[in-house]
Formats: sequence, structure tokens, C-alpha cells
Amino acid sequence: MKRQGQNIVRKVMLFLSAAMLAVPSMALAEGDFTQPIKFSHVTHAGKNEVPCEFCHIYARRSINSGIPPVRTCFGCHSVVKGTTEAQQQEIAKVVGYWDRQEVIPWKKIHDIPDFVEFSHKRHIQIGFDCTQCHGDMSKVEEVSFATMKQPLSMGFCVSCHMEKHPTANGKIAGPVRKTRGALPIDNAASVQPDGNISGSKDCFICHK
Ligand code: HEC
Ligand code: HEC
Ligand code: HEC
Ligand code: HEC
Ligand code: HEC
Repeated sequence: MKRQGQNIVRKVMLFLSAAMLAVPSMALAEGDFTQPIKFSHVTHAGKNEVPCEFCHIYARRSINSGIPPVRTCFGCHSVVKGTTEAQQQEIAKVVGYWDRQEVIPWKKIHDIPDFVEFSHKRHIQIGFDCTQCHGDMSKVEEVSFATMKQPLSMGFCVSCHMEKHPTANGKIAGPVRKTRGALPIDNAASVQPDGNISGSKDCFICHK
């Protein structure tokens, strides 16, 4: 089964179109918390090495990274049914949402206030990796407020904006990890920085 799973992972990653629509997730009050399906980043981004941006396709193109639609899940889970009974039960729920053509009502965890301007695109394109702000998600079994690496406070944003980040060829220099693969970039540590870049401290950059 493990073998079959990995083959499927490779196939689907090759063939599934990246033009899938992501769905917005719902914000919720801190405290009450269960996701509709026990989704594990360890299984997907960790063990099976599915790249972050295979599922969060909007990270480099837009403000939001987006949560993948059930179509993305079904691409694999039409075939991958799970090994243990517990896995099979949870995967059956995924198939159920697909059969009913319902959106999986994921609850949104990371949520900065509307009066703050934040865009993934700018940060990803300059070369930051997901780990920079989210930690190593491939080790997070279940995302919750407790696993959130950063408070997403103004101090979190501003202190990084004040740092001088070494750059190489106009991008943040390594050692960084490939956002797409969550694996270290070969030789990243040996790249020689040729300048540096900072974010802005101007109030109007983040508060328009
Ligand atoms: C197989 C698809 C898939 C892959 C691969 C994946 N994710 Fe996710 N991710 C999801 C789903 C589904 C959710 C919503 C459910 C949840 O919170 O567990 C989510 C939630 C998240 C959240 C929290 C969203 C919120 O509401 O605040 C972050 C942050 C995140 N992923 C980052 C990553 C990073 C970084 C990687 C790569 C290391 C990654 N993801 C790989 C599917 C995926
Ligand atoms: C690229 C292929 C792929 C995609 C896309 C994918 N999965 Fe999986 N999923 C797997 C594999 C492989 C397993 C492990 C199966 C096994 O060990 O038998 C798995 C296991 C699971 C399990 C069982 C619990 C566990 O962690 O082992 C659940 C639940 C699950 N996936 C939900 C989802 C959801 C929800 C999505 C969409 C957001 C999704 N999967 C997208 C490949 C994928
Ligand atoms: C510079 C910091 C930073 C980096 C780098 C970053 N994120 Fe985020 N991420 C955030 C913040 C801040 C939020 C909350 C955004 C909001 O509420 O509007 C967030 C929210 C999310 C969410 C929840 C849904 C959404 O889009 O609001 C997901 C999923 C996510 N990030 C995935 C990723 C992935 C995948 C990467 C790497 C490709 C990544 N992030 C890189 C800061 C970052
Ligand atoms: C890991 C470091 C880091 C973190 C954390 C970070 N930023 Fe940035 N941010 C930067 C850098 C560096 C730039 C400059 C990128 C460029 O010039 O292309 C930038 C650019 C921006 C821009 C674009 C500025 C412009 O000139 O248009 C905005 C807006 C922004 N950040 C908001 C935020 C907010 C809001 C947060 C917190 C939720 C945040 N950033 C967290 C490093 C960071
Ligand atoms: C790099 C982005 C960034 C910059 C620059 C920035 N802020 Fe903020 N600011 C934030 C974020 C993110 C929050 C939301 C914090 C939270 O929800 O805890 C915030 C919150 C605030 C709040 C509300 C505080 C509260 O407790 O509710 C005020 C007022 C504020 N900022 C004023 C300013 C002023 C004045 C400046 C210029 C000196 C400034 N900010 C510069 C990101 C920024």
C-alpha cells in the first residue's frame, strides 16, 4: 500500500492541473476547535513529500495561500483508501464530500485583522520559505492555535522588516528550503550574499 500510495502521489503531482480553484476557509474564535477531517501535514508534506504549493497553489501568486478544494484531495483519494481502519474512516469522509460535491468546511486558524495589509506573493517571490513564518509544517500532525509558530502580531511583522536579510541575485540568500519541495536547496549554504534587503517600517505599507 505504501508503494502504491507513493506511485499515486507522483502521478497525481505530474498530471493534476494547477488551475484548480481554492476555497476560502472560515474564521473562528480561538478555543472551540475540531476540523471536519483529521488532516495530517506529517502524512502529506512529510512522509509523502507532497510540496506545500501543490496544495496551497496561491502562495506565490496572491494575497492568500488558499486551502485546496476537495478535487485536489480526491485526485489521490479516489485510489488511496488508507491502510489502517482509522485512515480508511477519515478518507471515506473525503470521498463523501466529493460524492456530495460539498466544500469541506475547514476552519481558518491564521487570521490577521482586516486593517492589515499582508500578501504571501511579495514574501514568497523575494525568496522567503514557508518555514520562515510557519515553522516546519511537515512535522505538524494537526494544525491548531497551539501549533501556530508565530503570533502574527505587529511586532512579528515589524521586527522582521527591520532586519537586514542577505540576498544573492536579488533574492533572500540561503540556507533556505524549497517552498515547493520543503527540502533544502542544494548548495544553498554556499551561495555568497551580494547585498541585503529589508521590509518597510512605514505605517502606510501595512495600514492603508
Ligand atoms: C495535501 C495537501 C496539503 C499539503 C501538501 C500541504 N497542506 Fe497545508 N493545509 C492543507 C489543508 C487541507 C489545510 C486545512 C486543514 C488544516 O488546517 O489542517 C491546511 C492548512 C495549512 C495551514 C493553516 C491554515 C490556517 O487556517 O491557518 C498552513 C499554515 C499550512 N497548511 C501550510 C503548509 C505548508 C507550509 C506546507 C508544506 C510544508 C503545507 N501546508 C502542505 C493541505 C495541504
Ligand atoms: C498527492 C496525493 C495526495 C493528496 C493530493 C492528498 N492525499 Fe491524503 N493521503 C495520501 C497518502 C499517500 C496517504 C497515506 C495512505 C496510507 O498510508 O495508506 C494519505 C492519507 C490521508 C488520510 C488518512 C490519515 C493519515 O494521515 O494517514 C486522510 C484523512 C487524508 N489523506 C486526507 C486528505 C485530504 C483532506 C486531502 C486534500 C486536502 C488529501 N488527503 C490530499 C495522499 C494524498
Ligand atoms: C512572511 C511570512 C509568511 C510566509 C513566508 C508564508 N506565510 Fe502563510 N501566512 C502568513 C500570515 C501572516 C498569514 C495570515 C494571513 C491572513 O490572515 O490574511 C498566513 C496564512 C497562511 C494560510 C492560511 C490561509 C491563507 O492564505 O490565509 C496558509 C494555508 C498559508 N499561510 C500557507 C503558506 C505557505 C504554503 C507558504 C509557503 C509557500 C507560506 N504560507 C509562507 C505569513 C507567511
Ligand atoms: C521573514 C521576514 C518578514 C516577515 C515575518 C514579514 N515580512 Fe513583510 N516583507 C519582508 C521583506 C524583506 C519585504 C520586502 C520585499 C520586497 O522588497 O520585495 C516585505 C514586504 C512587505 C510588504 C510590501 C511592502 C511594499 O513596499 O509594498 C508588505 C505590505 C508587508 N511586507 C507586510 C507584512 C506584514 C503585515 C507582515 C506580518 C503579518 C509581514 N510583512 C511579515 C519581510 C518580512
Ligand atoms: C510590517 C507591518 C506593519 C507595520 C509597518 C506597522 N504595523 Fe501596525 N499592525 C500590524 C499588524 C499585523 C497588526 C495587528 C496585530 C494584532 O492583531 O495583534 C497591527 C496593529 C496595529 C494597531 C492596532 C493595535 C491593537 O492593539 O489593536 C495600530 C494602532 C497600529 N498597528 C499602528 C501602527 C503604526 C502607527 C505604525 C507605524 C509606526 C504601524 N502600525 C506599522 C502590522 C504593521
